[in-house]
Amino acid sequence: MDVVVTGMRSTGPLHIGHLVGVIENLKKLQENYKSYFFIADLHVLTTNYENVSDFKKNRIEVMLDWLASGIDPNKATLFIQSKVPAHTYLHLLLSMIVPVSWLERNPTVKEMIRDLELSENASYGLLGYPVLMASDIILYKAKFVPVGKDQLPHLEMTREMVRRFNFLYGDLFVEPQALLTNFPNVPGVDGKKMSKSLDNDIKISDTEEETTKKIMEAITDPQKIRLHDEGHPEICTVFTYHKIFNKDESETIEKDCKSGALGCVACKKNLAKKLNERLKDIREKREALKKDLDTVIDIFETGSKNASEVANATLEEALQKMNIK
Ligand code: TRP
Repeated sequence: MDVVVTGMRSTGPLHIGHLVGVIENLKKLQENYKSYFFIADLHVLTTNYENVSDFKKNRIEVMLDWLASGIDPNKATLFIQSKVPAHTYLHLLLSMIVPVSWLERNPTVKEMIRDLELSENASYGLLGYPVLMASDIILYKAKFVPVGKDQLPHLEMTREMVRRFNFLYGDLFVEPQALLTNFPNVPGVDGKKMSKSLDNDIKISDTEEETTKKIMEAITDPQKIRLHDEGHPEICTVFTYHKIFNKDESETIEKDCKSGALGCVACKKNLAKKLNERLKDIREKREALKKDLDTVIDIFETGSKNASEVANATLEEALQKMNIK
């Protein structure tokens, strides 16, 4: 069976964009591949190294979101990056062979530095973001890596590191391929990219009331002011949500919005109801898991042990190839 590896940074509870964009995809992959899904907690430190007070808590939020939404520890190995020390050891070995010029050219890292206004404060660890990511992937000799488009430069660099290592010390690592999914892009309630930091996200773990409130406040077509005004669903965030979470009714909604028969308030109430229905089971399961955190943590401890066996074996091979062992 082909190996798939992917990681998700633990910056806090996940939102509905993660659910339909990433988690749904992982649920399919776990059926057909030897899957390693991990929480990339160390990658969080590349930018959020100052305030670590929520570090462990955020990890647990992601564990709960994954398990509640159907990522299955019986089908995939679920683990925590920092609990498999081989990742950090291989990161160090790779850091010796990767030219700084490659890292300085990486457009995704450059974008992070720009967006977070880090410039002079960008750390050595952030520059090495793709090096750690390469270790994450190649320790498991993964063939496929499901990622978003923004991650492609990192993956290309992983491939370059593999070629360089194999050329210098002999064949060992496998060049991974990106598995791009054309998942729906879920905008935030303000129409911008959905993100926790912009405070425009709807979380898997939000209550029904919070969800409804956020939807009622969502930006719609600015030209549709009164109920019977003709709307432009193609530019409306709420309509985008209907297309994803209320597919069956979306044609009627589109027609009625355009004609002015449907007002925004009714349209939003309907969406809130549908979205809450869709999330109901996940939220209930999440609440139940939350009451049994020991079991949740245990699942990831066991996964980390299992991942370590594979990762340590590959690390051992790398050390031998480099004549360290
Ligand atoms: N950089 C990825 C992201 O932000 C997370 C990640 C870390 C990852 N290591 C990985 C993804 C290894 C795939 C494989 O989305």
